[in-house]
Amino acid sequence: MSGEERARAARNLAHLLDATRSPGRRMLDQVLASGKQSPLARELTYGVTRHFYSLSAELQPLLERPLRDRDLDLFALMLVGAYQLRHLQIPPHAAINETVAAAHPLGKPWARNLINGVLRSLQRSPTPTPQDDSVRYDHPSWLIERVSKEYPDQWRDLLSANNARAPMAIRINLTRTSVQDYTHLLGSANIASQPGWLPETVILEQPMPVAKLPGYAEGLVSVQDAGAQFAAYLLTERLSAPSSILDACAAPGGKTFHLLERAPHAKVSAMDVNSSRLDTLRRSAVRLGHEVRTLCADASNDRLAARYDHILLDAPCSGSGTLRRHPDIKLLREPADVGVTARVQALLLRHLWHALRPSGTLLYCTCSLLREENDSIVAVFLNTHTDASAAPIELPSGAATRYGWQLLPLDPRTDAFYFAALVKSK
Ligand SMILES: C[S@@+](CC[C@H](N)C(=O)[O-])C[C@H]1O[C@@H](n2cnc3c(N)ncnc32)[C@H](O)[C@@H]1O
Repeated sequence: MSGEERARAARNLAHLLDATRSPGRRMLDQVLASGKQSPLARELTYGVTRHFYSLSAELQPLLERPLRDRDLDLFALMLVGAYQLRHLQIPPHAAINETVAAAHPLGKPWARNLINGVLRSLQRSPTPTPQDDSVRYDHPSWLIERVSKEYPDQWRDLLSANNARAPMAIRINLTRTSVQDYTHLLGSANIASQPGWLPETVILEQPMPVAKLPGYAEGLVSVQDAGAQFAAYLLTERLSAPSSILDACAAPGGKTFHLLERAPHAKVSAMDVNSSRLDTLRRSAVRLGHEVRTLCADASNDRLAARYDHILLDAPCSGSGTLRRHPDIKLLREPADVGVTARVQALLLRHLWHALRPSGTLLYCTCSLLREENDSIVAVFLNTHTDASAAPIELPSGAATRYGWQLLPLDPRTDAFYFAALVKSK
């Protein structure tokens, strides 16, 4: 049984590693969604992905000769074994035996001795002193270079924070229940939690399956990072009367619904270019009891028929602020990808500005910690738009940047997010 779970994790990882060598990359979420996964298989898959650089650096010298391309699943299985030996409290003999047993469900029983030999050598050797930063911090070199340049005093702590497990934060749907009633429900279900920054934010002591959250199916609650919840806060703080709001990159809808929960009288339109992600948004709207107008359109190009009082642009980005939740980004992204998303972000911002009414605010945000996607985009935009100015932002975590605000996972309650509030002159 446990051999099966280790084989499942090895298959997941082989898919991911294969994706790093070919175009049309599949993210780990998609790989995991395509098969039945046990909690152990998930833990092993995420754990290996998080520590890929150090684990593979330890394994490579133990292989007498390189594995054939078609045996990538065996290398993945060895990584699963190495992760258990170096990072989990599983007794080493059990970890090794179960990993060796997984060669059978992988259809490669001939590899049992090979896996056994490699893992026993690893068990006997002390953890080596890493020779380079990529291995020491379990990040790709290009990202370490950029983070260390942009955060000269914090980069080591930031990289370590990226390798931690993310907390599970939830958002109480204030249109369906109250903070007091929902907190009471959590207490009755013995789910330990702490309050977040906003009244509706709750941080759970232990992550749990969403379906087990009290009232989840009835729409009392959603899962959303505590830092991400500042987007709707920042925009709704600026509303003086019922307003029209365009959420231009809305799917799967986390921020759209939060806007509606904070400002139930606002007319919110949710736009996204991806129709299947919009379908997910529509299904969640039904669960949460929200009425939202949806538009499938390209916000960087399509003609926008209306003008809105306010716009939220939660732009597609590198995701470099979410490595705790998506460690596969470290393996899949390449340095050139950041430039590509930055061009899209600049285009989206320029195009959407035409759809904003005078005196309105466009809240630009990303889940990136890289300046190229954040302040640099806003700097160029402000230089070329004399009718735009950046309003000051202040939040209880993170730090001000030249034009906006940056949250960082140095505060373990949040992923990294960037916000800039751009106001159009009258
Ligand atoms: C960061 S995600 C949005 C997350 C969402 N705001 C939330 O809180 O759930 C970025 C979204 O932008 C969408 N997107 C990318 N390019 C777009 C474009 N040109 N026009 C509209 N949407 C776009 C993607 O499909 C993706 O759903």
